[in-house]
Amino acid sequence: MAEHTTTQTGTPVASDAHSLTVGADGATVLHDRYLVEKLAQFNRERIPERIVHAKGGGAFGTFEVTADVSAYTRAAVFQPGSTVETLARFSSVAGEQGSPDTWRDVRGFSVKFYTTEGNYDIVGNNTPVFFIRDAIKFPDFIHSQKRLPGSGLRDADMQWDFWTLSPESAHQVTYLMGDRGLPKSWREMQGYGSHTYEWINAAGEKFWVKYHFRSQQGDLHLDAETAEAIAGADADYYRRDLHDAIEAGNHPAWDLHVQVMPYDDAKQYRFNPFDLTKVWPHADYPLIKVGTLTLNRNPQNFFAEIEQAAFSPANTVPGIAISPDKMLMARVFSYPDAQRYRVGTNYNQIPVNAPHAASVHNYSQDGAQRHHYNAPSAPVYAPNSFGGPVADAERAAEGGWESDGELVRTAYTLRSDDSDFGQPGTLYREVYDDAAKARLLTTLAGQASAITIDEIRERFFQYWTNVDGGLGTALRAAYAAGVNADAPQQPEADDDDAAA
Ligand code: HEM
Repeated sequence: MAEHTTTQTGTPVASDAHSLTVGADGATVLHDRYLVEKLAQFNRERIPERIVHAKGGGAFGTFEVTADVSAYTRAAVFQPGSTVETLARFSSVAGEQGSPDTWRDVRGFSVKFYTTEGNYDIVGNNTPVFFIRDAIKFPDFIHSQKRLPGSGLRDADMQWDFWTLSPESAHQVTYLMGDRGLPKSWREMQGYGSHTYEWINAAGEKFWVKYHFRSQQGDLHLDAETAEAIAGADADYYRRDLHDAIEAGNHPAWDLHVQVMPYDDAKQYRFNPFDLTKVWPHADYPLIKVGTLTLNRNPQNFFAEIEQAAFSPANTVPGIAISPDKMLMARVFSYPDAQRYRVGTNYNQIPVNAPHAASVHNYSQDGAQRHHYNAPSAPVYAPNSFGGPVADAERAAEGGWESDGELVRTAYTLRSDDSDFGQPGTLYREVYDDAAKARLLTTLAGQASAITIDEIRERFFQYWTNVDGGLGTALRAAYAAGVNADAPQQPEADDDDAAA
C-alpha cells in the first residue's frame, strides 16, 4: 500500500482532493492547514532565474587526468592518476528560462570539479574570448542584449549600438555571428575557460594558463534555417539531446588541454595576455593535454541539482589562482553575490554545491535555511584555545603577481599588438573557410536589415570593414541587394530611367 500523504511536518492529511468547506457547497475555510500549506509552498516553487545564462542543462561525470602537468600546478585535481567527480552545465547567455535552445548565442560551458582540496569551478563559454574587457561594462552589455524596457522586445538597434560603440567586442561578435553561434548540440561544441588563470607548482613557480575543452564528438554547427525550424519545434532541443544521449549510454567526452605561458613572458608579450578579447596563438603556446571529462549521469532532479547549482570563478583550489584579468577579478565578486540572492545565503550547503570530496571547517554560522552546524562545544571564533580549525597558509596560499600599486581608472596599458580588430580579422581570413565566410555574410546581411537606425547601420558597416575590408564591401553590397529586392515594384517608365 502507498504511504499516506502528510503535511510538511509529517502529520497525515485527510484528503488529496477536497478542501475543508462549510457544507458541501459553502465557503472554504482558512484553517484548512494542508490546503494553505500546499498553495503557499507552490507559490514559492520558483527562484529567480540566473540573471544571465538562465536557460541550460547539465549532467554529472568524471574528470580523469591522463598526462603529467605537475611541473605547472600542484592542484590535486590535475595530478597524475587523479579522477574526480564533476558536474557540467551548458547554457545560452541572453535568453530566459523558456527560450529556445537554438537561438543564435554564445553558449556557457561550466564545470565543477569536486576535488579533495575543495570544489574547483571553470565557468567558461564555447568561445575563447569575450565581448568586453572591463567588468564595469557588463551590466550595460547584458541590458543591450536582453529586452527593451517598454515593449519587452529584443532589439537589433540596441545590440549593434552597444557592439559598434565597443570595438573590443569585434572578436567575440565574429565568433557569435559565425558557426559557433549555432552549435549542433552542447555535446558537439568546444569549451574554454577563456580567461588567463595562474597555476603554481609544488616548488612555488608560477605560470599563466588558458583552458581548452575539445569535444570528442567534434565541433559541429547547425545552419541558420535548421536552427530556426528547431527553435519553433523543440525549444529544449539541446537539453533533450544531452539527456537522451546520456540515458542511452552515449557519454559525451571532452579532452582538457592547457596553454601554458611562463610567468615572465607576460611582461613583454606583444599584447596583454590578460585581455579577455584576445587568444594566445597556438604557435607561441601549444596545447598541452591534461585529461578527459566524461559526462555519464543525468540529474535525478533538475531543480535541485541543475537550477540550484552555483558555479563560480571564485572557487579555486591550492595550485590555481586568479590572474590580473579585470573581468576575472570582478567575476570573483559577482557570482557568489548573485547566488546568495538567487539561491540563498547558505547556497553552498545544498548537496550539489557542497564539497563532495573535502569537508568544510570554519566559523561561519546561522543565516536563512542553515542546514549544517558545528557541535555545541565547538568554538565560534578564531583564534581560540579550544582546538578549533586553524588556517594552513602552506597548503592554501593564493597566487599573486607584481603590481605598480597606483590606483587609476584607465584601460590596460597598450602594447604593440593590442588592436581590437587584428585577431577578428585573422579569425575571418585564416580560420573561416569559404563556406563559413559565406554563412557569416548572409547572417550579417540579415542583421543589417534588422537595424532600423541609419547611423547605427553605418557604424555596423564600418565595424565589419575594420574586421576585414573585403567583408565590409561585400556586406554593403549584400544589404543593398536585399533592400533593392524588397523595394516596391516601380512603374515601367521608371524602370527605363533606371536602366538609362
Ligand atoms: C565581469 C563580467 C561578468 C559578470 C559580472 C558575470 C556575471 C554572471 C552572473 C551574475 C551569473 C549568474 C550566476 C548565478 O546566478 O548562478 C553568470 C553566469 C554565467 N556566466 Fe558570467 N559574468 C561575466 C562574464 C562571463 C564570462 C567572461 C564568461 C565566460 C568566459 C561567463 C560565463 C558564465 C556562465 C557559463 C554562466 C552560467 C553558469 C552556470 O552554468 O550556472 N561570464 N555570470
